[in-house]
Formats: sequence, structure tokens, C-alpha cells
Amino acid sequence: MKAIVHTSPQGIEGMALQGFESTVPKSGEVKIQLKSAGLNHRDLFVLTRHDEGEPPFVVGSDGAGVIVEAGANVNNVKVGDEVVINPSLNWYTKSPAPPEEFGILGFPSNGTFAEEVVISAENVEPKPTHLNWTEAGVLPLAALTAYRALFTRGNVQEGQHVLLPGVGSGVITFILQFAKAVGAKVTVTSRSESKRQQALELGADRAIDSEGDWKEALNDEKADLVIESVGAATFAKSLDRIKPGGTVVTFGASAGDEISLNIRNFFYGQYNLLGTTMGSRDEFREMLQFIKKYNIKPIIDKTFSLEEADIAFKRLEAAEQFGKIGFTISK
Ligand SMILES: NC(=O)c1ccc[n+]([C@@H]2O[C@H](COP(=O)([O-])OP(=O)(O)OC[C@H]3O[C@@H](n4cnc5c(N)ncnc54)[C@H](OP(=O)(O)O)[C@@H]3O)[C@@H](O)[C@H]2O)c1
Repeated sequence: MKAIVHTSPQGIEGMALQGFESTVPKSGEVKIQLKSAGLNHRDLFVLTRHDEGEPPFVVGSDGAGVIVEAGANVNNVKVGDEVVINPSLNWYTKSPAPPEEFGILGFPSNGTFAEEVVISAENVEPKPTHLNWTEAGVLPLAALTAYRALFTRGNVQEGQHVLLPGVGSGVITFILQFAKAVGAKVTVTSRSESKRQQALELGADRAIDSEGDWKEALNDEKADLVIESVGAATFAKSLDRIKPGGTVVTFGASAGDEISLNIRNFFYGQYNLLGTTMGSRDEFREMLQFIKKYNIKPIIDKTFSLEEADIAFKRLEAAEQFGKIGFTISK
């Protein structure tokens, strides 16, 4: 089968569309013929974590397709079923943090930018019927992360003010839609005027410049909940915009991992700082029900063929996208 395989050197240059050995599903596993897949920032990061000398691997965490083969002891799905893939491995029930065995599909295990993938049947769910293949393929990782960040960890409530730095992010576009669905008031930030405009069209109440003065742009107003994924470039500004007793949920650091923190301001403000990452199968299923109930569809930035993978990766690397970048794999 054909797949986007990373060998070496590290980074996008070490990646190519090439033949890769097809595997047979073992007990409890299924083989999925992929129709579509979606790109995440993680797919870029893992290319720099894959050391020379380690075996080549197929990139990609997100995907949707049709089951074409099932191993023994598979009872929840059957050949012919249309499914979405839950890339959160070995984390089944909602818990404060993932279990030690938790992993993410697409490094070190072989992922979804391929004609087919073999995974545990525990990691497939019926494809939401209101989504087309492109939408289903880009949904899983970002929508799951968004759901846990906003609901399980952020405990958002109707009428609260939610601040979302870096609205160009795929995850943040989901959080924007989810937060509006439950009646929150949403402010987004972006460095791009056109992304700010797109966010307003998507339902944001306010869109401000990430690089400007947030205090002034918000007339000194503060948020109940900030969901931070940009990292070093915006973290201090985010902390400065929470109400006393408010919460920051963080799950990403696109613009740097290290920040400095004034502890005194932090404890006087009685703030809550919560980490989150992906989510459990319980939350994946809740997210699928939620998007069905509110008829939410992923925002698609652009779609590419696997032959155009390097263009897609470079678009994400340059943060040119608004929403999700998808791959069309088969019709
Ligand atoms: N922990 C988890 O489970 C998990 C899951 C998914 C993602 N993540 C992480 O979350 C982050 C977002 O993921 P994604 O795939 O949704 O990312 P993405 O699509 O690459 O978006 C990142 C956004 O961050 C903003 N940004 C980047 N650098 C910036 C800077 N220097 N100053 C201001 N804004 C900047 C940009 O927003 P504008 O273009 O609007 O300015 C950009 O569109 C990544 O770090 C990713 O690794 C973590």
C-alpha cells in the first residue's frame, strides 16, 4: 500500500509517499481502508522526534474510512462499516489524567496518511452521519482535545466569557463552535485580520489582534475561562485577562514551552491552571453525540492528496490555515 512514511532526516525533508508493507489484523483489530485524513500540529512535531536509526513509520493520527477486514474477537464493528478513528490509544474511561499505557496513533505506531491502517477495534466509532468524508477525516484528534479542554477540564457554563488565543488553530475552531453552542460569550485572538474576520463569521463575539494590547482591545474586561494553546508568545497576556478565581486550561505550546510566572499575582488572583491532553474514549463518544446534537461540522481549510503532503505540512508550519487541513485518500 502507499503511505506517507518518515525515514530520515528529521523534519518534512525525511518524509515521502512510498510503498509500505500491508499488515493483517490480529485478534481484536480491524483494517480500515481510509477515505480521508486530517493534519495536526503533532504530525509536524513527531517528524523532529523520530531519531535516525529508528524504524520508518507512517505519519498521521486522524482518519475515517471503511472496515475491510476484521481479526478474531471483534464484536463492536464489522466489515463494510463506515467509521471514524479515535487516535487516543489505551485510554477508555474519563479520568483526571490518562493511564500510563496511553499513546497516540501515528508515532511510534503507524498512522493514517496511508491507503489503509490496522488498529484496535476499540478505537473505531461509527462515522457521524451528518459529516461528509472530508469532515469525518479531520475531526478526531482536534475535536476530542477541544471537548475535554472546554467541558471536562474547563467546565464551561452558559453565559461565561471564554477567551481563545490563536483562532487559526484547528482545535480552537472546534472550541469556538462548542462554546457558542452552549451559550458562552467568546473572544478570539489572531495575528491575521482575515482569520479574525472568519472567526466572527463563525460566531465569535469579538476578535482581537494577538499581537496588540488585549487589555485595551477588551476595554479592560476579563474572561472566566482562557483556553491556551499558543504558549510562550501569548501566555502572559492570557494570565493577565482572567477574572479573579478564573481558569486557564492549557494544551499546546506552538510558540514556545517556557514561560515566567509571577507567583504572588497568581495566588492573590486565586487562579486555576489546568493541563489537558486529548481525551478518553468516553469523551470521544460524548463529543460525537455533542456534534450531532448541535449539528457541528469541522471548518475545513483546504484538502490535499497524499502526493501533495509536503505542501499541506508547509501550510500548517507557516500557520496559514484557518481550521483543519485534510487529505482525500480514496473516493
Ligand atoms: N495536548 C494535546 O492533546 C494537543 C492536541 C492538539 C493540539 N495540541 C497542540 O495545540 C497547539 C495547536 O494545535 P493545532 O494543530 O490546532 O495548531 P495549529 O493549527 O498549528 O494552530 C496554531 C495557532 O497558534 C497561533 N500561533 C502560532 N504561533 C504564534 C505566535 N508566535 N504568536 C501568536 N499566535 C501564534 C496561530 O494562530 P493565528 O494564525 O490565528 O495567529 C496558529 O494558527 C499545538 O501546539 C499542538 O501541538 C495539543
